[in-house]
Amino acid sequence: MSKEQQDEVRDFWNRVASDWDQQVGDAGDNNRRLNSDPVLWQFAADVNGLKVLDAGCGTGYLARQLHQKGATVTGVDLSERMIAIARSKSNTIDYQVDSCTRLQGLADSSFDLLIANYVLMDVPDLEGTISAFHRVLKPGGAAVLVFSHPCFSQGDAEVKPGNSGGVSYHWDFNYFETCRRVDPPWGHFKSDFIWFHRPLSYYWKVFRETGFEVTDFDEPHISPERYQLAADAQMLRNSRTRPYSVAFRLVKRIG
Ligand SMILES: C[S@@+](CC[C@H](N)C(=O)[O-])C[C@H]1O[C@@H](n2cnc3c(N)ncnc32)[C@H](O)[C@@H]1O
Repeated sequence: MSKEQQDEVRDFWNRVASDWDQQVGDAGDNNRRLNSDPVLWQFAADVNGLKVLDAGCGTGYLARQLHQKGATVTGVDLSERMIAIARSKSNTIDYQVDSCTRLQGLADSSFDLLIANYVLMDVPDLEGTISAFHRVLKPGGAAVLVFSHPCFSQGDAEVKPGNSGGVSYHWDFNYFETCRRVDPPWGHFKSDFIWFHRPLSYYWKVFRETGFEVTDFDEPHISPERYQLAADAQMLRNSRTRPYSVAFRLVKRIG
C-alpha cells in the first residue's frame, strides 16, 4: 500500500467523521441494528472478561457496547477525527490512532477477540491488515469480520418498481479483479465514498493463507423477531431481500 493511498483513505474518513457519528450514533445505523449486529454478536459470543480489539472503530458505538458487556476494549482507527469523537464519548476505552495494516502500537498475541465492523472493504492493503490481525490475536483467538458484500455493491444497485423485492446489480468493472472504487454520496453524506473491491474468494484465500481457520460465515439479513424494528415497509423489504454484508468468524490456528 502506498503512502498516498493511506493518506487518501485517512483524509476521506477525517472529512466524513462527524457525518459518520450522525449515521451510527450510539446504537448503530439501521443496517447494523436490523441486519448485521445480531450476527456479529452471535459470532463474538460472550465477551465478558475478554480483551477485545475494535479494529477500525470509527466513532466507537461498538467499542462502547463491548465495554458495557464487560470486555476490556481497545479501539484503533486511522482517522484522528474519528478517534477524537470516540474519546469524547468515553474515557474508559483505550483509543489509539493507528493503521490496521500495521497495528504498530499493539503487542503480539495480546487479544482474545478482534472485531472489524465494515472496515475491510476500506483498507487498500488486505494482506497486511489480515497479517496484523493475526499477529495481535492470541493463538486460538477469534476474529469477527463484517464487511460490505463484495458480490452485491449497494452503490451499483437499482431497485425494481413494485413489491417483489427485486433489485438489479450491475458491475462496470471486472468482478475478478481487485480495484479501487468510488461511490457517489448516499444518505446525508456529501462526499464520494472510496473503497476497494476484491472478489469474495480472494478474501477467503487471504484469511486461510495468513493462518486463520474459517469457522463460520453468514450473509446477515433481518430475522422475523426483528421485523418490528424496521421503520417502514421499504426498510423491511430491503432488510429481507438485499445482501448488504458478509460476516466471517475466523480462529487463529494454534501452532
Ligand atoms: C465504514 S467505517 C466503520 C466504522 C465502525 N467500525 C462502525 O461500524 O461504525 C470504516 C472505518 O475504518 C477506518 N479505516 C479505514 N482504513 C483504515 C486503516 N487502514 N486502519 C484503521 N482504520 C481504518 C475508517 O477511518 C473508518 O472509521
